[in-house]
Amino acid sequence: MTVAELPDDGVLVEDAPGMPAGTEVIAHGYAIGVGRHGGYAQFARVPAEWLVALPPGLTTREAMVLGTGGFTAALSVVALQEHGIEPDSGPVLVTGATGGVGSTAVDMLSNLGYDVVASTGKPDAAEFLVGLGASSIIDRNELSEETRRPLESTRWAGAVDCVGGVTLANVLKRIHYGGSVAASGLTGGPGLSTTVMPFILRGVNLLGIDSVELPMQRRRETWDRLAADLKPSGLDAIGHDITLDDLDGVLTAILAGGATGRSVVDLRA
Ligand SMILES: NC(=O)c1ccc[n+]([C@@H]2O[C@H](COP(=O)([O-])OP(=O)(O)OC[C@H]3O[C@@H](n4cnc5c(N)ncnc54)[C@H](OP(=O)(O)O)[C@@H]3O)[C@@H](O)[C@H]2O)c1
Repeated sequence: MTVAELPDDGVLVEDAPGMPAGTEVIAHGYAIGVGRHGGYAQFARVPAEWLVALPPGLTTREAMVLGTGGFTAALSVVALQEHGIEPDSGPVLVTGATGGVGSTAVDMLSNLGYDVVASTGKPDAAEFLVGLGASSIIDRNELSEETRRPLESTRWAGAVDCVGGVTLANVLKRIHYGGSVAASGLTGGPGLSTTVMPFILRGVNLLGIDSVELPMQRRRETWDRLAADLKPSGLDAIGHDITLDDLDGVLTAILAGGATGRSVVDLRA
């Protein structure tokens, strides 16, 4: 097949079990583009069992604005819901709030009626975060200092944390009795130095979030919800299109913690 003959993005070219050629599909996780080839490719061959049919209510571009970051935010929100964190439980913190996981989590939680507190290192991102539905913003430095106290005054019923490290330890110290923290990332470091006090004195739950090896049934259910009640209303503000030529600069910004939202690489440009 020549480049000119390639189908539209996200379209299956061969019949697969339960999905005829022409079906719009999503493929992510399973280390695609990380441990396996397939990142930044216009045409990819992947096992059929890794594919999710695009649910009604999402375009292929919207699915890629969401991407693994939005999907991980959805898993985090669902995990909090499953552990009883409701909008009337109290404020919910989102760390790394301007990033891919964070920005989509802020939007989803706010649409569901939660009081969302956004933690960010970008003072000029307040307008963006309030636009996505954050009711208040804190400086991420408030949570990045190591302290010896095992517990602090409680502030949040739950948290979506993609930062890890000292930030996660500090978040755990401030979660309400019986609250939960959905932990998915390590932009602030992979270590976690804590005491058992939040767990044994306040019944706090630390919920691990993995999008890579998630079983397919759960993956499909989560995409269905991303097309419905979890669909962010601010996808236009969150996603920006870039070309392959822009990629170096965007990746440099991500590594420096300076990127905002999600970048969608337009491979045809
Ligand atoms: N578990 C999974 O399956 C899964 C899936 C997707 C992603 N992840 C992980 O989740 C994390 C976030 O992913 P992402 O796609 O949202 O990344 P991202 O778009 O680069 O966003 C990360 C955000 O973290 C904040 N940040 C950056 N450097 C920091 C630092 N040194 N200390 C504290 N905060 C910092 C920044 O937000 P502010 O400037 O607003 O603070 C940044 O925008 C990554 O570690 C990624 O590997 C895990």
